[in-house]
Amino acid sequence: MQVHLHAKDISTLQGQTVVFFSKPSAKKDQPAVITEKDVTEIFEESLSDKIITGAANEAITFREANLNNFRHVIIVGLGADSKMTAETVRQSAAALYKEIKATKVTEAFVQLDGLTGSKKDLAEYTQAFVEGLNLAGYSFDELKSKPKDKKEEVINIHLVTKAKDKSIVTAFNEGTILASCTNFARRLGDMPGNLMTPTILAEEAIRGAKGTGLKVTAWDKKRIEKERMGGLLGVNQGSDQEPRFIVMEYSGGTKGKKPVCFVGKGLTFDCGGVSIKPGAKMEEMKYDMMGGAGVIGTMLAIAQLKLKVNVIAFVPSTENMINGHATKPGDVHTARNGKTFEVNNTDAEGRLILSDALSYASEQDPAIIIDAATLTGAMVVALGNIHTGYFTKNAALKTKIEKAADISGEAVWHMPFNEHHTKDMKGTYADLSNISYTGGAGSGTAAAFLEQFVGEDIPWAHFDIAGTGWACGNRLNYCTPKGATGVMVRTFVEIAKQY
Ligand code: BES
Ligand code: ZN
Ligand code: ZN
Repeated sequence: MQVHLHAKDISTLQGQTVVFFSKPSAKKDQPAVITEKDVTEIFEESLSDKIITGAANEAITFREANLNNFRHVIIVGLGADSKMTAETVRQSAAALYKEIKATKVTEAFVQLDGLTGSKKDLAEYTQAFVEGLNLAGYSFDELKSKPKDKKEEVINIHLVTKAKDKSIVTAFNEGTILASCTNFARRLGDMPGNLMTPTILAEEAIRGAKGTGLKVTAWDKKRIEKERMGGLLGVNQGSDQEPRFIVMEYSGGTKGKKPVCFVGKGLTFDCGGVSIKPGAKMEEMKYDMMGGAGVIGTMLAIAQLKLKVNVIAFVPSTENMINGHATKPGDVHTARNGKTFEVNNTDAEGRLILSDALSYASEQDPAIIIDAATLTGAMVVALGNIHTGYFTKNAALKTKIEKAADISGEAVWHMPFNEHHTKDMKGTYADLSNISYTGGAGSGTAAAFLEQFVGEDIPWAHFDIAGTGWACGNRLNYCTPKGATGVMVRTFVEIAKQY
């Protein structure tokens, strides 16, 4: 699919399909309206018969309607003006994409100005609309064989607005970049473990960064050993695949300004190790690198948007497997910052690879550290697949995160953890244990473990995306039913903008 923007009057254009918006009437018991008065008149009967209701995410095709210079008409519902937000617009765009796909439409001209019935400005809605289209247009079918003679028809969607402001073009470009970098992250997660090893993940980060001005380096096992990353190496022991420590640097801010640091869990497959996971749904653990993938996508977006900020990202990457060298329950390893930990459950491995990355990030004199990880099943239980739970004790950072999420439309929820959770993570034979014996608050105790590796006084937030990293399509129509979501790319870019 290709989405284009035109500053034109739609009545001067011609093509296969035209798209208008509808919404319920502001008056009770009155038929819905289409945002263009003359089009409302043409569809009067469908409106009074409640075929068109204007409900959010309704998309109805009228084939061969032959309206003006267009063969087909699609009417997309926006929902009530008072309930319209960038997120409802994003979803309306996804509903349109699905209708276009289902009805085999290949060319659509969207009357974009119809989006601004309410107080919100067109630029914000344009960005959301282009995000919704491009996110909904993502599919992962590159591993399926294709019939040789079948050519996929390209879908062209033209967004048409009379507005000539530069802000609309900027918003369109930003939405396009955010969606494409989110889709970049999704693809990394959708790739199965055999085709997305730590080595391949690093190569993909390098490939994605080409031409963006990002500096990407991927440390191999030798370098990781030299850097004394005992957490990452301890988890990697059981795998036949070499680990990688991916570093991505972007210098868009003034020289010497403290960098924003992102850290992402890049576990390319988590079978649990010796504390092996049950078989059911184990295949989903190929997504255990979505924190890392999201951070890589965030860096690509920041560079493409040319943000005036300095940012460094770190993605520790390994598999969690069980060969003869695998870490055994009870084994003790030493993290980069010198703290020792007992591995009392080899399935709590994400915190171990993050320990070194957080220590290393802390050494960069960062303005803040933000990490993302599919860290705990407890987070899935607590919040499900809509809200990403985040942990921070820094009030100013919390305010910035809430603001960022408000703009991005990604739902987040501030989670608690305190000194009790820290105490729960004390070791018997080593400084720390990687699991809590107390039980309960599994996500908070994990956060308390991570905190041990963050430099004192560094504002830090941890995002547990275990529930929101994949399979959100049952709730968010711009996500695939089973695939990776690329969650947090949009929010993290908004956080970076504030520095
Ligand atoms: N990758 C998992 C967490 C996970 C679970 C992500 C389900 C997505 C869905 C993580 O490495 C893990 O296994 N955590 C354990 C920790 C426990 C042993 C303390 C968990 O949550 O069960
Ligand atoms: Zn695990
Ligand atoms: Zn894991």
